[in-house]
Amino acid sequence: MAQQKKKIEPKTLISEERIQARIRELAAQIDQDYADSDRLICVGVLKGSVFFMVDLLKQLKTPIAVDFFQTSSYGAGTEPGEVRIRKDIDMSIRGKDVLLIEDIVDTGYTLRTILDLLRFRGARSVKLCALLDKETRREVEVPIDYLGFPIEDVFVIGYGLDYDQLYRNLPYIGYLETE
Ligand code: PRP
Repeated sequence: MAQQKKKIEPKTLISEERIQARIRELAAQIDQDYADSDRLICVGVLKGSVFFMVDLLKQLKTPIAVDFFQTSSYGAGTEPGEVRIRKDIDMSIRGKDVLLIEDIVDTGYTLRTILDLLRFRGARSVKLCALLDKETRREVEVPIDYLGFPIEDVFVIGYGLDYDQLYRNLPYIGYLETE
């Protein structure tokens, strides 16, 4: 028989209802701000942003196109804050309006790198929409144009965020109590 693993019970930090209500508010604000846009390029950062991105984009009336980056920050041979692009976007964003969508801003290195890259490539405008902001952890400045929730420095999981690649599919934001 397979060995029974101890099941981790996450506590709820932000309920599914609160997340979905906030997403409706963010979508209304984004629609208003991009009322004149005929093509907004929405760029997610894999993998964490996917759940938030899908729910947010389904609420938008603005015509959108979708693309993705994938990055990695930690690993052998990387300095703190050294962000690697593992998957680049496919589209040309020169002269386009870009909305970057993320699940969480922590130290800020990932988003700082991507925001700088998008501007360097000549996007007409680049804005950031993040579900969570762990501001006390910030090491580089990242302006968040649309924010879901500011949070304390706790280990959050669910709704895209993982613990050892698990729990991303929780419909709420939970946290794990450290022993
Ligand atoms: C998380 C998150 C951001 C980044 C934020 O991704 O989705 O991309 O970390 O951290 P920072 O502000 O300190 O740079 P992660 O690298 O864990 O990958 P994942 O989305 O695949 O889980």
